[in-house]
Amino acid sequence: MSIETNPNSSAEDRDRRVIELYDQLLEIEQRLIPTGLHVFGRTSQSAERADLLRMVASFDRPEAGARALTDLVAESLGFSSYERTTTPQTTSETRLAERERVDEVVAAAIREFVMAGSEAAISFLATNANVEPKGSRPVFALLTSVSEKLEVNSELESLVCALRGEYIEPGPGADIVQNPAILPTGRNTHAVNPYSVPSEVAFMRGEAVATSLLNRYHDENGRYPQAMALVLWGLDNIKTQGEGVAQALWLLGVRPVRDSLNRATGVEAISLEQLGRPRIDVVMTVSGIFRDLFSPTVQLLDKAVRLVASLQEPPDLNYVRKHVCEQIERESCDMDEAAVRVFSNAPGNYGTNVNFMVMDSQWDREETLGDLFVTRKCFAYGRDSKGQSIEGREARVAMDRALARVEATYQNIDTFEIGITDVDHYFEYLGGVSNAVAKRAQSRPAIYLSDSLSRDVKIRSLEETVKLETRAKTLNPKWYEGMLKHGFRGVAEIENHVSNTFGWSATADAVDDWIYTEVAKTYVFDDSMLERLRDLNPHSAHSLVRRLLEANGRGYWETDQTTLEKLRDISRSLEDQLEGVA
Ligand code: BEZ
Ligand code: MG
Repeated sequence: MSIETNPNSSAEDRDRRVIELYDQLLEIEQRLIPTGLHVFGRTSQSAERADLLRMVASFDRPEAGARALTDLVAESLGFSSYERTTTPQTTSETRLAERERVDEVVAAAIREFVMAGSEAAISFLATNANVEPKGSRPVFALLTSVSEKLEVNSELESLVCALRGEYIEPGPGADIVQNPAILPTGRNTHAVNPYSVPSEVAFMRGEAVATSLLNRYHDENGRYPQAMALVLWGLDNIKTQGEGVAQALWLLGVRPVRDSLNRATGVEAISLEQLGRPRIDVVMTVSGIFRDLFSPTVQLLDKAVRLVASLQEPPDLNYVRKHVCEQIERESCDMDEAAVRVFSNAPGNYGTNVNFMVMDSQWDREETLGDLFVTRKCFAYGRDSKGQSIEGREARVAMDRALARVEATYQNIDTFEIGITDVDHYFEYLGGVSNAVAKRAQSRPAIYLSDSLSRDVKIRSLEETVKLETRAKTLNPKWYEGMLKHGFRGVAEIENHVSNTFGWSATADAVDDWIYTEVAKTYVFDDSMLERLRDLNPHSAHSLVRRLLEANGRGYWETDQTTLEKLRDISRSLEDQLEGVA
């Protein structure tokens, strides 16, 4: 991030850029950053608890009769709403000042709550921000209940019960900000009824995300994408009651229809007038977990594609029909071959293995990774035109054809706790499918992720998300010092982050040079840091250095010879140390 001092740029231009920079800093600052690993059986520390409580209080909680504290404070201070203060269109110093003021008051109220309890926080808000106690009381009643549940931890007892084969009380699966009812932890996580997916709330939220996604592509390309590839995971759709499913339905332009038992087993088209845009062709790559948990939903998605393909609409307003008709004509195939859009692993198989190939450095050309993705995921699911169920029929050609049309790929991120560099699954799926598209479409797709958890739906490009994650976590002292407190395991986590970042280079070339340069400076060329890493976990320290060298060797990081020599020397000295240990 730099603000160039161009003598020709106007003061207005400079102010705009300062405010943009400020917005980016705020975005990093406001991200909930895990400051250490969860220790099984241990309750959360108080600083971490205050952060969690602040996030919980920042959302409307109709089930608890509580409004978002940020809105209550903004309105009581006469700023209309917090949402407005965070809308980029109203960029101005006033907006920033208002937002800062709201954030300060909310943070101070939460501190007051943690130190002195509900009544103190309620009267603090009444005195300092005119917030009526009748508005703030339900918020603090909810925070009291959350806080009490955070103080107990029965994870170890539950584990022992499970090992004895005893009953464990069930609880919903989500993260704490999404659904505070997941507390206390240590319960038996239950899923959802697949026939209830997508829920009405999920369908409503799905529209906002699909619209933002298409608008973002339109802003960048002057038109809508004709085809998109989506990644759908099981656990995410459990947590959100099917927001990912709802996004796919909205892109296609259909809504779920419930039968007499209130099961979402049908679909109907939303009119083109209501949609106000073309129906997008959607290729869905679903995880093995999704396939197993959401079998009726897999059928629903396939049914949606077939319905849209059958609508007598102009090709420029219905890209599914356009592509299906073109394929039938060009290849003399039938509808059942041309309309396949829901793909997963072969029955009984899970995962793409792209992550293992990257981690073990077992590939020579990038396209090998996308080919592996297709090999693992080219099994079709749904029902053919005779009504016969298709349960994992190998359909490699159909998948190749469908991916060859894709112009944008997308995955919904729906948890505060895990981001795209925390685990290798995001790059194996979204990176894997994007890589497969790049070869088949002979053009790299636009790659997007959404943060549907933020109050305002936010669509980011993959590159933006990698930068944000890097700044918020990998290069953030608050994050890595938290990890280093966990000794051996913490260093392994740091190394994982670097390797997962590398996974985004390997699959999607989405990592800037400066990221590797800063990783090298932070962890390798800082003598005291390197000393700490090699004391705590020389294996992971060695892997991290080797990964940086690999990033350079594969052309993802341009750097100078001196840097490379230093890295090679350090790598050799770590090898010697490890041999000494062995
Ligand atoms: C899933 O929930 O479908 C999933 C979870 C982790 C990795 C891949 C998929
Ligand atoms: Mg590069």
